[in-house]
Amino acid sequence: MKVGILGSGEVAKTLASGFLKHGHDVTLGSRTPEKLNEWAAANPSGKTGTFAEAAASGEIIVVAVKGTAVWEALRRAGEASLAGKVVIDACNPIADAPPVKGLLQFFTTTNESLMEQLQKQFSAARFVKAFNSVGAPFMVNPEFKGGPPTMFICGNDEDAKNTVTGILDQFGWETADMGGAEAARAIEPLCLLWCLPGFLRNEWTHAFKLLKT
Ligand SMILES: NC(=O)c1ccc[n+]([C@@H]2O[C@H](COP(=O)([O-])OP(=O)(O)OC[C@H]3O[C@@H](n4cnc5c(N)ncnc54)[C@H](OP(=O)(O)O)[C@@H]3O)[C@@H](O)[C@H]2O)c1
Repeated sequence: MKVGILGSGEVAKTLASGFLKHGHDVTLGSRTPEKLNEWAAANPSGKTGTFAEAAASGEIIVVAVKGTAVWEALRRAGEASLAGKVVIDACNPIADAPPVKGLLQFFTTTNESLMEQLQKQFSAARFVKAFNSVGAPFMVNPEFKGGPPTMFICGNDEDAKNTVTGILDQFGWETADMGGAEAARAIEPLCLLWCLPGFLRNEWTHAFKLLKT
């Protein structure tokens, strides 16, 4: 698949290298594509460009930018380049404020998630929440003693979620589909829980697993 990835941070670069590793065609985008030169040198089969170029080139889009900037990044990507496409949303609605007792602060409320807002604004795109509740170093084929961890996903479009489940299979995850876009109200705060041991005790090497009988 052709994948357009919006972002120049650790998440975007890690996922971009992961998609390349699994044989996909990748364009990684930034407002300042020169920021991506180091990634490009280490990943010669990958392409880099602007947010608009990455979005135009992708059959699937991944958005992995600062939560407060996601509207700006998607606006620059261009609504037409998102329409009809699966958009994997790895972003968390983290406010520009320090953690309190280890808890990150969100700019959303418990009754409306970031992804619901994005789905409303870019209504022709098919958003799927994924990759938001684990640290970047564990996103691609993580190895834990307890076996494959669980990626919680949600979104309104069943086909889009099936596509993302296929990607997560490749990336070594079990997938738990939590329902429509509203379920992002539960999935986005998993980021708070994941980061808590990190801020409290500098423990950053875990992932969630859903156990079933
Ligand atoms: N770090 C993790 O381990 C982790 C894990 C799970 C989820 N997440 C979430 O994934 C997302 C990306 O995290 P990250 O740590 O990789 O990177 P980040 O530092 O949160 O974000 C960097 C990206 O945000 C973009 N950005 C910042 N201000 C912008 C603006 N005004 N307009 C447009 N774009 C802007 C930057 O664009 P330019 O390239 O143009 O500078 C860059 O691509 C975040 O929402 C984060 O909460 C992070």
